Amino acid sequence: MPTLNPPGPRGNWLLGSMLDLYRDSMQYMRDMATYGDITRSRVGPFHVYLLNNPEAIQEFLVTHRDKHTKDPRDAKLLGRFLGLGLLTNEGENHKQQRKLVQPAFHMKRIQAYADVMVAHTSALLDTWRTGSTIDVDHEMTKLTLNIVTKTLFNANVTADEAEAVSRALDELQVDMTKLSTLIVPVPAWLPLAINRRIKANTAVIDRIVWRVINERRAAGTDEGDLLSMLLLSKGEDGAPGMTDQQVRDEVITLFLAGHETTANAMTWTLYLLSQHPAALERLQEELDSVLAGRTPTIADLPQLPWNEMVIKESMRLYPPAWSLGPRIVHTPIPIGGYTIPKNTAVMVSPYTMHHNARYWPDPERFDPERFSADSEKARHKYAYIPFGAGPRVCIGNTFALMEAQLILATVAQRFDWRLDPSQKIALDPQLTLGPKHGMHLRFTKRPVLVAAN
Ligand code: HEM
Repeated sequence: MPTLNPPGPRGNWLLGSMLDLYRDSMQYMRDMATYGDITRSRVGPFHVYLLNNPEAIQEFLVTHRDKHTKDPRDAKLLGRFLGLGLLTNEGENHKQQRKLVQPAFHMKRIQAYADVMVAHTSALLDTWRTGSTIDVDHEMTKLTLNIVTKTLFNANVTADEAEAVSRALDELQVDMTKLSTLIVPVPAWLPLAINRRIKANTAVIDRIVWRVINERRAAGTDEGDLLSMLLLSKGEDGAPGMTDQQVRDEVITLFLAGHETTANAMTWTLYLLSQHPAALERLQEELDSVLAGRTPTIADLPQLPWNEMVIKESMRLYPPAWSLGPRIVHTPIPIGGYTIPKNTAVMVSPYTMHHNARYWPDPERFDPERFSADSEKARHKYAYIPFGAGPRVCIGNTFALMEAQLILATVAQRFDWRLDPSQKIALDPQLTLGPKHGMHLRFTKRPVLVAAN
């Protein structure tokens, strides 16, 4: 009888849970999850659902994929600097763009990036002195930024330019978050400081990205990077797949989506291993026995299962994309005995799903064995969704997992580490899930094995 409404917090008589949502959106979702696997709250005049079991998530994101879209207000705000890239596109346009961008992420193509990932990690580690305390939050962001810059643009963007683009994107995200929490929308044409800043930051990005696109189009070369793949993409009729404007929008989208998330995954992984020395020791034994001092390559990854299990468990406990973008329902959706009505917002949070004790016994415990082949087989696929699911699943998921595995192997092969005693640990759930106070770890060099390469 799909007429009952799901349980959930009642909130304030007028505003519902609006203040809770704006004050601390992660806590708000955790509170909602205590009412059950499908819950509902009211935010002002609107209803918000949280889906927190694998069946409901699969039905919503996969089976009923065509009955909802991302919130058009978010797409409009982000579109001010991202244009119409994969993150902001919808419907048929999204489907077509996804088809055109996908080949840039085919296994063959991204295998070529593995050496870039290891080389950049090794170069960074060469600067770490034994006994020094390092903020890995900062260092991993720098590293993943360098990697995405090289894999997107090969040698055509300098480190300074990449940092300028990254800084502009950071400021744009802060401004977008401010604008998205205003009750009354601020039109882009109003001559306010925030609008001027958005324009100036977008101009910084455009100057650099357009220069590279124009140079590359003129040269007509395939540099083996993501940009070449996008510029050379072809539609079904063999005609050029994307206009230069579309390439610009996709490039900036990939740059934005492609580094902070992986940096967060690495930061939390290194933190967890500092708290679980036996897991680190097991990892180093695995690395020493498989690599014997060689730097890792992509061909080694299947021989390093513990390395992969540690990363997966880290992304369970601390999913970098801790909440998917809210979806707005436009055709009623039956799920779990309820009907989610039109114009309702629906949330799916990898964080609450990964901490649901019905699917993850003793959920706060770090236990990479949860990702042994047998355990993975026994679990519902959608209980683990660090990369989302359905037609908008992360297009960079294989790239990211490979990057995380190669970085971790390279770091753990060369260093031991422990948490700096003064380091405070707290979550900072912004668009991605970082640590609130940085992550200072003290590194010591491991004895060098005689390398075979
Ligand atoms: C550990 C690292 C990463 C995590 C945890 C992650 C997570 C996610 C998640 C959860 C989504 C879906 C969001 C939603 O449905 O609302 C997503 C989408 C996306 N990700 Fe990632 N991501 C990571 C790395 C990357 C990398 C390395 C790239 C590219 C180089 C990338 C590019 C994208 C793009 C373009 C989308 C939008 C896809 C679409 O809507 O069609 N991500 N990511």
